[in-house]
Amino acid sequence: MSTVRWGIVGTGAIADAVAGDFQFVPGGDLVAVASRRQAHADAFADKHRVPIAYGDYRSLIESPDVDVVYIATPHPHHRDIALAAIDAGKAVLVEKAFTATLAGAEEVVEAAQSKGVFAMEAMWTRFLPAVAAAREVVAWGRIGDVLAVQGDLYAYRDYDPTHRLFDPALGGGAILDLGVYLVNFAQAFLGSACSIDSKARFHPNGVESAATVSISHVGGGLSSLAFGLDGPGPARLIIVGTKGWVEVEPRFHHPAVITVNRSGVLPRIIEAKPSGRGYSHEFAEVTKRVSEGMTESPTMPLSDTLEVMRILEECLHQAGRYPEEASVFGG
Ligand SMILES: NC(=O)c1ccc[n+]([C@@H]2O[C@H](COP(=O)([O-])OP(=O)(O)OC[C@H]3O[C@@H](n4cnc5c(N)ncnc54)[C@H](OP(=O)(O)O)[C@@H]3O)[C@@H](O)[C@H]2O)c1
Repeated sequence: MSTVRWGIVGTGAIADAVAGDFQFVPGGDLVAVASRRQAHADAFADKHRVPIAYGDYRSLIESPDVDVVYIATPHPHHRDIALAAIDAGKAVLVEKAFTATLAGAEEVVEAAQSKGVFAMEAMWTRFLPAVAAAREVVAWGRIGDVLAVQGDLYAYRDYDPTHRLFDPALGGGAILDLGVYLVNFAQAFLGSACSIDSKARFHPNGVESAATVSISHVGGGLSSLAFGLDGPGPARLIIVGTKGWVEVEPRFHHPAVITVNRSGVLPRIIEAKPSGRGYSHEFAEVTKRVSEGMTESPTMPLSDTLEVMRILEECLHQAGRYPEEASVFGG
């Protein structure tokens, strides 16, 4: 495949934020956008110079001009859109949280695997150069064996029960929106969970505004994670090892710097800036893997996504929350 042609489904905040980053993606072109309303698709296409604008999602999903569908709708809509795109033989990049439920995630993964098409969660953090540097530092044994991940992600948002961040029907709540970054980081460095203990605080409509999560990992690692939509915070994260620690400088989910601290050695500061707004790296990964004919990314494999979803769902259940997938195309 010479050029990998991308289409975006949904014209909301994240779609608007990422569109400019396609200029930094070797071999990838943003060729189409779809909205539920033609006028929104047209406005988005005009603003971001996207050649094709569809007034419904299915036209983009079935378009012969599109190779990869980037799904930028609220979480409960991801499953149906991903399933439709996979059925049409398209590769999919699915925004975080991958789906609203573990069962939904399993359906998408099974469909992609049986159809033999590429699928990945859009966990952009894993592809940022500073995070790649942290992985290398750990892999080289610079901080010894990893013992713990500790992090916080507070991001204040005015409470508006009609907004997707707070509306239960749109997957609202801090666990799927913010907790996903921390759990993903912990899973990346410590692997699967064997026990999960989560406590939550709630908005008036019953959606969790904040939560803490303690995870015991299979290899003995421990994670302590805290996050919330009801207050601001620094978004710090450290990876603790037997011989030192890596600080992923705030905000840890889109860092440009890490600091490696080792006993008896001056701290080493590694600067690794992202290109564009930072989303280009995940798009470049998908573009490369799709053009190579691969069906997964080794950096963000589907098994990791399923484990992250399993942990998030357990946190939700401990908070008494049971989100559901939405039916996008009826039936
Ligand atoms: N990676 C990141 O940094 C990042 C940042 C923010 C959000 N996200 C993720 O991206 C996804 C979208 O978040 P967002 O902040 O962009 O949301 P948003 O601003 O509310 O936009 C979501 C878009 O989805 C479409 N949509 C389809 N059905 C909808 C419904 N029933 N209600 C509302 N919108 C609906 C709409 O597009 P049309 O009207 O065009 O159809 C809407 O503009 C979420 O899964 C979120 O977690 C990721």
